[in-house]
Amino acid sequence: MSNDARLIAGNEEHSFPVLSGSVGPDVIDIRKLYAQTGMFTYDPGFTSTASCESALTYIDGDEGVLLHRGFSIEELSENSSFMEVSYLLLNGELPSKAELDDFSRTITRHTMLHEQLATFYRGFRRDAHPMAIMCGVVGALSAFYHDSTDISDPLHRKISSHRLIAKMPTIAAMAYKYSVGQPFVYPDNSLSYTGNFLRMTFGVPAEPYVVNPVVEQALDRIFILHADHEQNASTSTVRLAGSSGANPFACIAAGIACLWGPAHGGANEAALNMLKEIGTPDKIPHYIERAKDKNDPFRLMGFGHRVYKNYDPRATVMQKTVREVLTALKVNDPIFEVALQLEEMALNDPYFIEKKLFPNVDFYSGIILSAIGFPTTMFTVLFALARTVGWVAQWNEMISDPGQKIGRPRQLYTGPTARDYVPLDKR
Ligand code: ACO
Repeated sequence: MSNDARLIAGNEEHSFPVLSGSVGPDVIDIRKLYAQTGMFTYDPGFTSTASCESALTYIDGDEGVLLHRGFSIEELSENSSFMEVSYLLLNGELPSKAELDDFSRTITRHTMLHEQLATFYRGFRRDAHPMAIMCGVVGALSAFYHDSTDISDPLHRKISSHRLIAKMPTIAAMAYKYSVGQPFVYPDNSLSYTGNFLRMTFGVPAEPYVVNPVVEQALDRIFILHADHEQNASTSTVRLAGSSGANPFACIAAGIACLWGPAHGGANEAALNMLKEIGTPDKIPHYIERAKDKNDPFRLMGFGHRVYKNYDPRATVMQKTVREVLTALKVNDPIFEVALQLEEMALNDPYFIEKKLFPNVDFYSGIILSAIGFPTTMFTVLFALARTVGWVAQWNEMISDPGQKIGRPRQLYTGPTARDYVPLDKR
């Protein structure tokens, strides 16, 4: 039997090739659909559309599986550092010790920002959301690093990728420092990627900052959990922006803007705010009822996922990490108990069972980040920092593909048809 998919449109039958990946659902190759039938497909929200071919990340949403280049997120988060995972995403293989040292050294050497960028921050109000600052400052990098914006040159792409990964912690920490009115702290190349970020965020010039290894490891793991997630909204935004040939700094700024939304990266901030609003376990049933009420816009933040119809494997790691961090920091956060009980109640409720709504990565991350000392407004910034490696890896994969085209979806037009123009004085 032919492996083609057949479509009957009107009186005609059309055949389309079915392509198989290494694992996961087959796809129907409809690239010739319009030429053959004069019709488009209609798929708002891309619920049934594979927008590209990719060898980076695989998700089996029904089974709750997440693999980067074939390695499970559980193993990577348990055994690797964020630098190792970054190398893996960019290069396809886990690094040897020498390769990792070399990569880490390169990233470390790019952590400083052009000094003039510091003055850029002063244009923002002190109460600006740090994601607003991230969008602006990352976009502005293209005005500072002209020597790595030729996207047709693989070396330029490599340097700009390294710059983005390296400078993101510095930019993020400076956004925080600006909001609290403290001086910017320059990077310290003797520290790890994550230790350096902690120092730039929480250190002050007046005294030495000692990195807490438990916090450093937990945050590094959080970065790993957020490193990449195949064609999610912000990654698709980066790819779409990049498909026109825009420079990588502008593309990543576009990704940051998309990530900011509460249905995506902004959910970790929204989840913690929700848990605080619930406050005590006795209020949980009321909020569960609200989440189920179609007339109430309230949703359980940190619950549900477009792809996972099972427990998000990142949420499992995150829940374990919350316990470790709270114990190590001797923090007794009543919100954690609210989260645990909310999860249990929701997972036993027919509404959530039927709709396959499980905790996602954002449900527990806010509790850890808050225990470490980050204000809620910084949560999505940390997500952006970590996801930058996924964005640049996906962007590089797209640009290196010789068959790459500008992304240009079509539409089902429902507006007025051609009509006569009426001059202003006759309207
Ligand atoms: N609380 C209550 N009901 C929910 C929730 C929720 N968190 N999530 C989905 N539902 C319901 C919807 O109302 C819908 O019900 P219906 O079929 O009766 O209309 C059904 O479940 C399917 O939901 P959709 O919104 O159609 O699913 P979609 O795949 O478009 O949305 C999303 C996924 C945006 C993540 C959604 O689950 C949501 O809004 N969750 C809360 C926000 C959140 O946690 N986002 C983080 C995502 S992970 C990330 O970005 C890292």
